[in-house]
Amino acid sequence: MRCLNLALAERSYPILIGNDLLQSAENLQPYLRGPRVAVISNTTVAPLYLSTVVTSLEKVGVGVTAIILPDGEKFKNWESLNAIYDGLLAARCDRGTTLIALGGGVIGDLAGFAAATYQRGVSFIQIPTTLLSQVDSSVGGKTGINHPRGKNMVGAFWQPKLVLADTRTLRSLPARELSAGLAEVIKYGLIRDLPFLEWLEANMDSLVGRDDDALAYAIERSCRNKAEVVADDEFETAKEGGRALLNLGHTFGHAIESGMGYGNWLHGEAVAAGTVMAAELSRRLGWLSEADVDRVRDILQRAGLPVCGPMLGAEQYLEFMSHDKKVVDGRMRLVLLKSIGSAVTTSDAEHADILATINACCHE
Ligand code: NAD
Ligand code: GLY
Repeated sequence: MRCLNLALAERSYPILIGNDLLQSAENLQPYLRGPRVAVISNTTVAPLYLSTVVTSLEKVGVGVTAIILPDGEKFKNWESLNAIYDGLLAARCDRGTTLIALGGGVIGDLAGFAAATYQRGVSFIQIPTTLLSQVDSSVGGKTGINHPRGKNMVGAFWQPKLVLADTRTLRSLPARELSAGLAEVIKYGLIRDLPFLEWLEANMDSLVGRDDDALAYAIERSCRNKAEVVADDEFETAKEGGRALLNLGHTFGHAIESGMGYGNWLHGEAVAAGTVMAAELSRRLGWLSEADVDRVRDILQRAGLPVCGPMLGAEQYLEFMSHDKKVVDGRMRLVLLKSIGSAVTTSDAEHADILATINACCHE
């Protein structure tokens, strides 16, 4: 088992990565607040993994309430959040109850927000079961739901007590979802870890082929990158750089997700197309060469990801992008690449260049 630590003083927590971790309640027990847990999952993940988690917890005397939500990004909303509160109240869960998110990033973000708000805040644990959630969304404490006008517009920072990533769960993940997770893995190489990007270029075929060792290494290295960034700028308040750099490709990507209707493009797919747009805009600013943009496109394509956005229309992109949380005093702040392996936040991009980038990077 690989073990990392996210260093946040009294809110520090471990990230455990390994095979078959769900079977042993010993991995969870030290992080439970009391003898009750509520496991939040969905109709796809629960039939696969809920009984393993429940059986192992019950063996050590922990009482479990399961709350099962419908599956999909389009259910990352108020109704699902309310369903969690309803389930917790019906089971008389109190402040000593620990919430466990068992699923991908949608379940993690929803359960985390429920934990942040139920009875003014209860403990929670992340058990991420997609590659994307194991390398990104389960770590760092961003929780929330979507609004029809914008992705993740309502939420809270609320750190888990533990992240437990059982890599065996990735065996049942559809190929398209594995690729979506690779978009966030590639992101770490592009924004701050050039040696990791080079490793990814050498090992992409093993990752797509689900080689256990390659996946475990990529998850650990991704989480290490994320943990370092979050430890330095937990609440994304740095004036320049900081945690916002983790959003490479996300401002364009969120516009795709919102504009196409939640769930039609996977988050990782939208981030991939958005990353090519960020690279292309960086080229227009004179920071990247054409060969650099091709390099970005190539690694994403090898991961099975789309590298062109949909034809939403430039005005619609800009409308959704203007709701981004990185907008400060009405000025759009974008994450761009100064060079491959080094990202910056900038408000320097001209409107005309953003428009030209959208038009150049979107196809029917
Ligand atoms: P997801 O949660 O929708 O999961 C993808 C699909 O895989 C779902 O159908 C799910 O039921 C299924 N699934 C999950 N685990 C499975 C398994 N082991 N086997 C088979 N099927 C499985 O999507 P995701 O890509 O995990 O997460 C995307 C979400 O994460 C988005 O809402 C995004 O905004 C959010 N996100 C949050 C953060 C953060 O910091 N909080 C960071 C990145 C992304
Ligand atoms: N996924 C971006 C962040 O956690 O900040």
